[in-house]
Amino acid sequence: MVSFSKQPGVRRKVRRHRQAARNPPEHRTESSRCRTFAVTSTAPVTVAWHHEPSGALNGGTGRGTHVCDCTGRPFTRSAHVSAMSARHISRRKHMSDLRSSPLVLRPGTAAPAVPGRILILGSGYLAGHIAARLTRLGAETVLSSRRAPVLPESRGVRWKQVDVTSGPQVAALMDAVEPDAVVAVHGPSDITWCESHPEEAYATHHGGARNIAAALDGRPVLLVSTDNVFSGEDESYGESAQTFPVNAYGRAKLAAERELLDTSSALVLRVSLVYGWEDRGPRPNFLTSVVRSLMRKEQLRIPDDHWNTPVHVEDVAAWATTLMSSGRTGTLHLGGPRRIGRVDWARHIAEQLGVDPMLIVPTPRIGTAYACRPRNACLHSEVAAQLPELQHHRPADVLETTHALIS
Ligand SMILES: NC(=O)c1ccc[n+]([C@@H]2O[C@H](COP(=O)([O-])OP(=O)(O)OC[C@H]3O[C@@H](n4cnc5c(N)ncnc54)[C@H](OP(=O)(O)O)[C@@H]3O)[C@@H](O)[C@H]2O)c1
Repeated sequence: MVSFSKQPGVRRKVRRHRQAARNPPEHRTESSRCRTFAVTSTAPVTVAWHHEPSGALNGGTGRGTHVCDCTGRPFTRSAHVSAMSARHISRRKHMSDLRSSPLVLRPGTAAPAVPGRILILGSGYLAGHIAARLTRLGAETVLSSRRAPVLPESRGVRWKQVDVTSGPQVAALMDAVEPDAVVAVHGPSDITWCESHPEEAYATHHGGARNIAAALDGRPVLLVSTDNVFSGEDESYGESAQTFPVNAYGRAKLAAERELLDTSSALVLRVSLVYGWEDRGPRPNFLTSVVRSLMRKEQLRIPDDHWNTPVHVEDVAAWATTLMSSGRTGTLHLGGPRRIGRVDWARHIAEQLGVDPMLIVPTPRIGTAYACRPRNACLHSEVAAQLPELQHHRPADVLETTHALIS
């Protein structure tokens, strides 16, 4: 964090806003070169900077996009305060309080979204599995992305072309499909790619979410988000934990979460590393790529300082479709029941395949493609066990499922 007192360019504006908050008129608007906003809060407002040159969390130097951790939006220092929306000021009395929105029942939502017409933004791994499950449940499902889907799960599902970074395209898609509910599973999930393409990652995840939010018109939306919104210093994260992304992917996803949560009709489902048998996808998940490499007797350098709570893709699809009918908004976590290191998981795969586990070479993640990942990318839920609709959807254990998938 860089304290605002070290940012002389904004000190004046912050002071003005503090004064306004201490002696607030009932309702005040102020124009700036950035945008107009209204101060409706009567509570003192604390502003915290989260200065993000692409990559580094702390410090005020470096090049790249500057992202505000309160709004998730890029900012210029002088325009930052005026860029904060009234919603953020009133919703977060202390801007440094970065805890997630609690899970609540959307008022007046008796009508289930499933079956109905569901628009899915994205047509990749998760989209395909969610679409297949929705279709089985009788929903009319439409996938959408820039290129036609390739995964077998998407076969027979209607598809429409869209680039989520284009507001007019997203609005036109929403008008054409007229969905009852929306699922947002768009944008790159390759964390290493996002780290080397932070602006594209941000434009797709956050920009896409912003365009979806603008076109929603009150419809419920479910966004699949990630454990990478946390620093990874703790072993596992529940919904009440403070977000603190340490990579470009996490920052982009957190910003997307906030765009959609601001609509008050969003459920953010943060899921851990997703696995399953994925033979056809362009970027096979960890389980599939380890199996393939070991079958070829290739040596694999696997990080020995990186832990996950992997979750099976069918569990993600089951939770997503079930929760769409629940009328809940806010944030919910879905991690598998076992916290496991990548090396142990890879060795387990080797044992199941009957190949030499010594092919797995433990390696510090620094210096590998995993370098930008948090040490612990692990989630648990503080609330899921109390939700009646999830009673029959306990996530599967990764070792048992790996065994079942391989044998
Ligand atoms: N897989 C995981 O382990 C995991 C874990 C937690 C969260 N998530 C989240 O779940 C979502 C889906 O993950 P996934 O594993 O299914 O990823 P994926 O297989 O790479 O699918 C991503 C989809 O987004 C589409 N997309 C990318 N840029 C787009 C754009 N500008 N406009 C429209 N569509 C675009 C892609 O299609 P085109 O490129 O053809 O447009 C693709 O269909 C991601 O947002 C990811 O952050 C995934």
